[in-house]
Amino acid sequence: MNRDYLPPSIGPELGRQALDAAADRNLYARGTRAPTLFEIDGIPVASLVEQFGSPLFVFSEHGLREKARRMREAFRSRYEDTNFAWSYKTNYLNAVCQVFHQEGWTAEVVSDFEYEKARKLGIPGKDIIFNGPYKSRSILELAISEGALIQIDNWDELGLIEELTRHLRKPLDIGIRVWLDAGIRPVWSKFGFAIESGEAGRAAERILKNPHLRLHTFHTHIGTYILDPNAYSVAATKLVALREQIFVEHQHLVPCLNLGGGFPSQSLLHGMEGPAERTIPPIEAYADAITEVLNRLPPKKRPQLRFESGRHLVDNAGYLLTSVVAIKGVRDPLTLNSNLTGRDYKEQTLLGEDARASYVLDAGINLLYTAAWYQIDALPSRSINAPLSTARLYGPLCMAIDVVRYSIDLPPLNVGEVITLYPVGAYNLSQSMQFISYRPAVVMIGANGKPEIIRTREVLDDVQRPERLPAHLNKMP
Ligand SMILES: Cc1ncc(COP(=O)(O)O)c(C=O)c1O
Repeated sequence: MNRDYLPPSIGPELGRQALDAAADRNLYARGTRAPTLFEIDGIPVASLVEQFGSPLFVFSEHGLREKARRMREAFRSRYEDTNFAWSYKTNYLNAVCQVFHQEGWTAEVVSDFEYEKARKLGIPGKDIIFNGPYKSRSILELAISEGALIQIDNWDELGLIEELTRHLRKPLDIGIRVWLDAGIRPVWSKFGFAIESGEAGRAAERILKNPHLRLHTFHTHIGTYILDPNAYSVAATKLVALREQIFVEHQHLVPCLNLGGGFPSQSLLHGMEGPAERTIPPIEAYADAITEVLNRLPPKKRPQLRFESGRHLVDNAGYLLTSVVAIKGVRDPLTLNSNLTGRDYKEQTLLGEDARASYVLDAGINLLYTAAWYQIDALPSRSINAPLSTARLYGPLCMAIDVVRYSIDLPPLNVGEVITLYPVGAYNLSQSMQFISYRPAVVMIGANGKPEIIRTREVLDDVQRPERLPAHLNKMP
């Protein structure tokens, strides 16, 4: 063993972020300042709430376009024949979809509702990628008549499509979804045909034998928030191998490979240490991993590359402005209590340290479905010169699980204080529930710096319109 004394060396990294550097490296250390967010795209957060009310979703058009442009550049500069579709389910507000359509993104939909929405926004059927494990007969009939690219999920769907395309004079371009092991756990085996067992090859063969169908795409979506670019390299390699096998056996070169979505946003899962920029690979790392596989092919054999990303493009452009409506203490530390149940133990040790204060916000998990997995940041809208302590953030719902953050370091907050929850642009709006309270307004700050309402706050009629009261219930006793 070498016992020579080695003098400590001081690298530039040690000085990074000065006061907060220790907290970044040490789980138990605490930063001395709370991160704040004064404005979004130059507009003070407090003034947005004054003008449009609280809670309030805010999207930055600039943020959406910037992400789209960087992603396009990352891929097209490495592999020109790359195309993009916007994953509607991630956020199907018309204004958000339209920003991506203007940036050249087509539409990826997974239901009749999303299909109709994309058509209503002016996207022609031929520019729609239709995914999902269940597509009803009637929407398939429409999609077939409009030439959408249906990515078949299972044998029953293939049978139905064979039936519905029997009358076609010109073959319909079709894709199949496959699942594969890219080293990511869990493997998303719910969707598509298995590549490794040969099932995907058999589905491809059956399509190739059908004169009414033309096999256009092999598609896979290996999961969401994939932190390892290498997983995409594995997925691309497996799709290329399947394509080559089909070429050798049937002399048909499938024109397009679609690698789905799954690129992460700058957000952290519970239990992960920040800051996000240090943990999340940049989009260019994913572009390298994927295009290196395709660029190894002889130029004439290179497929068109497609993506249908959601989270990566929209999450960081979305903010939820909320207000503190009440301040409460929390119950005594459980460690002093002998009647500790398993559930108490879990709450205290897994979900957070002992919170010293708790704040009730006017936005809760009805609007923040992703709070169960992601550490949504809570950023005061003014600088508060006071020490941080561990706090808990409750939502306003009359249910105990309505907790936005079990444990977060915050300075003391006042009732009325405006807090920004961030990032929240992906999946929260499309998965939000009208439960107990109305869903809030949504504003987009335009590229011109002007905030405009893109969804009004719900009112009673929005919620009640589909209801019908039978005549005998329409009178008081
Ligand atoms: C088939 C398909 N494509 C694309 C996406 C978008 O994924 P992400 O938001 O991770 O980019 C999803 C979402 O799960 C999906 O199921």
